Amino acid sequence: MAYSDKVLDHYENPRNVGAFDKSDDHVGTGMVGAPACGDVMKLQIRVNDEGIIEDARFKTYGCGSAIASSSLVTEWVKGKSLDQAMDIRNTEIAKELALPPVKIHCSILAEDAIKAAVKDYKDKHGS
Ligand code: FES
Ligand code: FES
Repeated sequence: MAYSDKVLDHYENPRNVGAFDKSDDHVGTGMVGAPACGDVMKLQIRVNDEGIIEDARFKTYGCGSAIASSSLVTEWVKGKSLDQAMDIRNTEIAKELALPPVKIHCSILAEDAIKAAVKDYKDKHGS
């Protein structure tokens, strides 16, 4: 299957690959798996005292579309509030990357990962 130029760009030059210290108070970690294919995505956010996401990291064990989706999302969440990050929809990711129907679940994985990271952060802070 042919990947779009944007997928290839993120796949070949993934942004924000890596990890933060999970136990850091300012970090939220989301780890999700795709039942359809067994791919796994870990996405982390670093939140400042004003509740703004100032940085993000990811590690994805998966296909090119999953890597591109998580790379894109780490760029999108920077500067957003937690609520704004929760509003990111997989359909926007799929549209930006021009994902074909069989790869839509890869973008859902990225949406789920960011939601899980926000939830982890909120759980840590009792809200
Ligand atoms: Fe997940 Fe392709 S099926 S890597
Ligand atoms: Fe399963 Fe992409 S995440 S094929």
